[in-house]
Amino acid sequence: MADGLFGLAADEQGYPFNQVPTHAYWSQRGGVAGWGSICGAITPAAVFISYVTDEETQMELVNELMAWYQQAPFPIYQPDGEVLQTVADSTLCHVSVTKWHHASGHDKQSQEKKWRCGGLSADVAKFTVQMLNDYADGKFESKYKPAAIVGECQSCHSPLTQGKDNCVMCHTDPQPADLHEPFMP
Ligand code: HEC
Ligand code: HEC
Repeated sequence: MADGLFGLAADEQGYPFNQVPTHAYWSQRGGVAGWGSICGAITPAAVFISYVTDEETQMELVNELMAWYQQAPFPIYQPDGEVLQTVADSTLCHVSVTKWHHASGHDKQSQEKKWRCGGLSADVAKFTVQMLNDYADGKFESKYKPAAIVGECQSCHSPLTQGKDNCVMCHTDPQPADLHEPFMP
């Protein structure tokens, strides 16, 4: 993943991209060393964006990347073999991969899993490059948003609740019921 983005930029632009040690991103695999935390394709892409944009633009573009990620049907790029596509509704590796395991029936050790996460990494790289090109051409427009339910939950919870990932991925039955039922999907 990091090789894709930084390697391509190094080939085309040389310095400073040819100075980036892409092995620094190796530990991001499996949601950071297999912890199933943030998807490991996102972090190198976010850092890559930070190399070529100012602080405010970084937030805008990485926000777009996160919002797109949780609703994209991965893997879109399937060069090696056809595998089932799933939407994660989350930016967490655990949710993204496990939903795909359940839907596809392929386990962690399978060849299909390697294809899936390899294709997904290419998808994230492609989206990132397209977004940066659009930005450079003055054509970037935000198209993706957190799930609508997040806005509903956050209308009450935002002062004490961090996050934009889909709340009902984890909270399916919050109490008290009378307050929550009108907002649950
Ligand atoms: C990845 C899973 C996950 C997601 C996504 C998630 N939460 Fe949580 N949430 C938790 C966990 C775990 C706790 C802690 C529960 C505890 O304290 O026992 C928690 C706690 C809470 C609490 C209780 C805080 C308190 O003071 O007791 C609220 C309210 C809450 N979340 C709202 C939200 C909202 C709103 C969203 C969407 C923006 C959201 N959560 C997304 C896992 C999640
Ligand atoms: C109308 C306001 C309102 C909305 C909208 C709302 N909540 Fe709550 N929620 C509350 C209140 C009030 C409490 C109880 C006090 C507290 O913990 O803040 C609560 C408590 C919670 C708790 C902690 C109690 C528990 O069951 O563990 C969670 C988790 C939670 N809400 C999640 C959500 C999620 C997810 C959504 C969106 C589907 C949501 N809330 C939408 C008002 C709301």
